[in-house]
Amino acid sequence: MKIIRTLYDMTQYRVQQRDRGASVGFVPTMGALHEGHMSLVEQAVRENAVTVVSVFVNPIQFNNKEDYEKYPRTEEEDFKKLAAAGVDAVFAPTAEELYPEEGNNCKEYELGEVASVMEGKYRPGHFQGVAKVLDLLFRLIDPRRAYFGEKDFQQIAVVRNLLKSEGLHVEIVACPIKRASDGLALSSRNTRLTKEQRDVAPEIYQTLKYSVEYSKDHSVQATHDTVVEHLDAIPGMKVEYFEIVDARTLQPIDEWDESNWIVGCITVYCGDVRLIDNIAYRLPNKVDHAD
Ligand code: PAJ
Repeated sequence: MKIIRTLYDMTQYRVQQRDRGASVGFVPTMGALHEGHMSLVEQAVRENAVTVVSVFVNPIQFNNKEDYEKYPRTEEEDFKKLAAAGVDAVFAPTAEELYPEEGNNCKEYELGEVASVMEGKYRPGHFQGVAKVLDLLFRLIDPRRAYFGEKDFQQIAVVRNLLKSEGLHVEIVACPIKRASDGLALSSRNTRLTKEQRDVAPEIYQTLKYSVEYSKDHSVQATHDTVVEHLDAIPGMKVEYFEIVDARTLQPIDEWDESNWIVGCITVYCGDVRLIDNIAYRLPNKVDHAD
């Protein structure tokens, strides 16, 4: 596996692949890789002649400096896992390399209404930061397909809008959420949970799962409230938001018959660790994030 650190070397590598006629599958990550990331990587390796993974903790998508500083960094182990999975190249630049012109960089991306709710509302600037790094990476790596996890459900919708507004042609492949055996969605931030917090964190998914049953004979509002009340009653847990939304527009719904694809998206603070998850209440026969 080739480890690439500079824009120049990444461009060279890309040109070589183009000359060979190899189509590239791309998995963008911020490292601290777990089985959730690796499920995306494995699918990319299966489906593409060449797989490139980026490992870059993107400073401009963190609206909280402490969250950025405390974000786990495990580069050596990450590279071992990627090599073992059959990845062809990893792109791991420094922030100075990727953003040499820091400071005078004020392009606002057109990301649409899907970017202004939930994560967009609670993490100002977050999606502009995600858009900026992905715009750079997509142009540099020029993948045929890019792989994203449904754990960050809203991120997928935002990326689709980014591609549209920037006129980039990349097929987005949405991959299911990987969970620990007790249901907790795998996340790099889980390593920051204390033992006590880790013990109660699975309640997030258990409560969401229970709420799907509950929703069968309760209103949207009652389903919403039961989730928030249950989780807020657990010591050390605080729901930041829970929204039951149309999965295509990400706007809140009032009635269950408003859409055939409905998801509940949640963010919970477990102490100072911010965990996100989501669950489907209604699913169309064929899920297509591009609808
Ligand atoms: P990161 O949080 O490292 O996640 C990289 C990819 O792995 C994302 O597409 C995310 O949805 C997916 N992922 C994380 N946990 C998962 C799980 N438990 N199951 C399935 N997929 C999972 O998302 C980012 O990085 C950044 O915003 C990035 C896109 C790299 C831009 O900086």
